Amino acid sequence: KPDDDQLIIDAGQKQFGATTCSSCGMVYSADNPEDNFQHTQFHQRFLDSIRFVGWKKERVVAEFWDGKIILVLPDDPKYALKKAEDVRCVADNELGFQQVTLSCPKQAKTFLFINTERMVVGCLIAEHIRQAYRVLEQPDGQKQLNRENFLEPQRAWCCSTVPEKALCGISRIWVFSLARRQGIATRMLDTVRSTFMYGSHLTKEEIAFSDPTPDGKLFATKYCNT
Ligand code: ACO
Ligand code: ZN
Repeated sequence: KPDDDQLIIDAGQKQFGATTCSSCGMVYSADNPEDNFQHTQFHQRFLDSIRFVGWKKERVVAEFWDGKIILVLPDDPKYALKKAEDVRCVADNELGFQQVTLSCPKQAKTFLFINTERMVVGCLIAEHIRQAYRVLEQPDGQKQLNRENFLEPQRAWCCSTVPEKALCGISRIWVFSLARRQGIATRMLDTVRSTFMYGSHLTKEEIAFSDPTPDGKLFATKYCNT
């Protein structure tokens, strides 16, 4: 587990010429002053976006030894919505989404995982949906993903044309690159299932992932089978 300092200054693996920053993900040439400058700026903006100063009123929905999950709702104060929006932009940037609007922003619930260093290292956006389309088995015999798409499929997954009942759509799930494989996405989803609908616990079949990325598929496959 990286310590705080590493988390902030880790400059990633150096290749010949090009460097990929393992925090902000930017690819740049470290020998090029202009590139370096661009990176420093982008990196700083990235860190500002995920920095969490703490709010007077936080809707804490889960607590762990290594952090907590807070829920931001559409009617929350401006500063809370701004933070949710900033983190969503960071995630969208990495997911390659360009201005994909939420299907119903007025009802979107944003779950943020805040680590003990006061950084937002996870973001999950959940929306109420009625139906979803199952991602079909890949022709190359890849293990079937028991998950569904509920937005227009933009990636190359084949989807069933038969809608199935679902209640909760996960339109974004993102974990900070240096905090992956620590069960953060798993814990965010577990929390969504227990808090999304008042008084009931959603089954894994009642949630659907929109337009999963390869990472998202691997995660969803594992999550839904366990
Ligand atoms: N490769 C293989 N298996 C994986 C991967 C992966 N990249 N990621 C998760 N898994 C599986 C593993 O079995 C893992 O358990 P293990 O670590 O004990 O082996 C299990 O899923 C649980 O993983 P978590 O630690 O809970 O997942 P994590 O916190 O790392 O977050 C996520 C996964 C959200 C996909 C993260 O990799 C990420 O943010 N990726 C970039 C953004 C992205 O692609 N998001 C999904 C888009 S789809 C959508 O938004 C609807
Ligand atoms: Zn960087």
